[in-house]
Amino acid sequence: MRARGWASIGRLLAGSQRLSSRSHAVMAEEAKKLAAYAAVDNHVQNNQVVGVGSGSTIVYAVDRLAERVRQEKLNIICVPTSFQARQLILQHGLTLSDLDRHPELDVAIDGADEVDADLTLIKGGGGCLTQEKIVAGCAKHFVVIADFRKDSKALGQQWKKGVPIEVIPMAYVPVSRTIAKCFGGEAKLRMAVSKAGPVVTDNSNFILDWKFEHAHKWKEVNTAIKMIPGVVETGLFVGMAERAYFGMEDGSVQVRDPPVN
Ligand code: 5RP
Repeated sequence: MRARGWASIGRLLAGSQRLSSRSHAVMAEEAKKLAAYAAVDNHVQNNQVVGVGSGSTIVYAVDRLAERVRQEKLNIICVPTSFQARQLILQHGLTLSDLDRHPELDVAIDGADEVDADLTLIKGGGGCLTQEKIVAGCAKHFVVIADFRKDSKALGQQWKKGVPIEVIPMAYVPVSRTIAKCFGGEAKLRMAVSKAGPVVTDNSNFILDWKFEHAHKWKEVNTAIKMIPGVVETGLFVGMAERAYFGMEDGSVQVRDPPVN
């Protein structure tokens, strides 16, 4: 009897835990939308070329962008950072371009996996880091949108999956070994979920996820990793973002700019 009592209490607790993690996820979705709408409203103007990031938060930004284009009759040209972004632009009837035709962007808006106090980012959870970094690098302003779970004091506090690093397939083992030897931790090949074998990026490369053991000087580490033969790009975005919008649990939006040194 007593055992059955404990079992039903256990079930109740598990149920309420499931509920609370579901409501956390619902809040995170709402927070993504808040951040995305704020960024599009504050940074997009008529006659601009806009870089469109990748991931789940950017979906809300493209929704809002398309809404504003329709309502305000804006003339906006969009440059995608991935196959996903290209699809989003087309599905919303927005004008699609590329860096050949528009190598200078007015603004790029993108999500992030983690944003630290300096606005150093980890990106590439969705595997699109190389094109994302190229497009952000071509933009006069690079703005980040994220929910409260991405807000961090120091990289690694919130995002536990490590720094994504895009590599040429034949080099993934030597690159992984070099990273572990020089910087510690472990750089593991990212495996696909609904396909046998590794994740293959939009650029036909592989992704290593480097789980670092401690904080690093990210600018130096980023440069050093990029020097390893076979590395295409890292998901460390250092000194690139000029503003981050965080949608918060209480329905507010917090803005973070880089510290003034
Ligand atoms: C993809 C990215 C995404 O911007 C990042 O993973 C954030 O995604 P989401 O908005 O789904 O949290 O870098 O490569």
